[in-house]
Amino acid sequence: MPEAAAPAKGTRPEGAQSEADASRKVREMFTEIAPHYDFLNHLLSFEQDRVWRARTARRVRPILLRRDARVLDLCCGTGDLAFALARSGAAQVTGADFSHAMLVRATTKSKTRSRGPKAGSAIPATFLEADALRLPFADSSLDLVTTAFGFRNLANYESGLQEIRRVLKRGGTLAILEFTEPPPGLAGDLYRWYCRKVLPKIGGFLSGNPNAYKYLPASVARFFHPDELVSLMGEAGFASVEYQLWTLGSVALHTGIRA
Ligand SMILES: C[S@@+](CC[C@H](N)C(=O)[O-])C[C@H]1O[C@@H](n2cnc3c(N)ncnc32)[C@H](O)[C@@H]1O
Repeated sequence: MPEAAAPAKGTRPEGAQSEADASRKVREMFTEIAPHYDFLNHLLSFEQDRVWRARTARRVRPILLRRDARVLDLCCGTGDLAFALARSGAAQVTGADFSHAMLVRATTKSKTRSRGPKAGSAIPATFLEADALRLPFADSSLDLVTTAFGFRNLANYESGLQEIRRVLKRGGTLAILEFTEPPPGLAGDLYRWYCRKVLPKIGGFLSGNPNAYKYLPASVARFFHPDELVSLMGEAGFASVEYQLWTLGSVALHTGIRA
């Protein structure tokens, strides 16, 4: 069966036989590329990754402005979305990831002096090591959960949504920023050529990990169409689910309210 047609129950890096196996391979892969992650993200996205995270923060700004709001940025990696959220308001932002190497970089960055309106102070976000499928948060304890380019990497999407739902308060918001396959047409075909032929070569060469940058387009191809993700979020107990498409339809921001 071609990889794109496989049922998208959860990610399956090449060779993974089970959920546990998939999870372990994903963690190892991100741990290996952590030293080059930020540089390659900015380079390979032509700096668009910064724009996507800033737009995500703007979308949820009313929550961020509340000093009492508790926010979790799941699969936070080196922390860039957590920082964008923390800079946008007064909410308490925590980033969580299961790759220790990613978190070390996030923590180091949080201690460096930030540029912009809060220059001179540390970026106010905290980080913890946790698996998205077993979060160390109480039921109904969070106002907002975000995740940028992380959800696609979960070994079980339904379990991931259930766990996010568990920790969100009723009325809390989930925002999932993810890559998606653009529709057919010149722009979409150009994007696919770039992602499948160019990006793996540059990413593989500069990171020394070709598999990680082959995994990226393969996992996007296996992932949900934006409408399918709307349905899955609805079935998992989220209401008012909607999405916006950006950058030739290659990136989607889904939002939903915990019912
Ligand atoms: C593509 S990176 C995205 C990082 C960051 N959110 C960003 O915007 O750059 C995906 C991250 O998800 C993390 N991740 C994947 N599966 C996870 C899981 N089950 N639990 C926690 N983190 C996970 C990886 O370790 C990695 O840091």
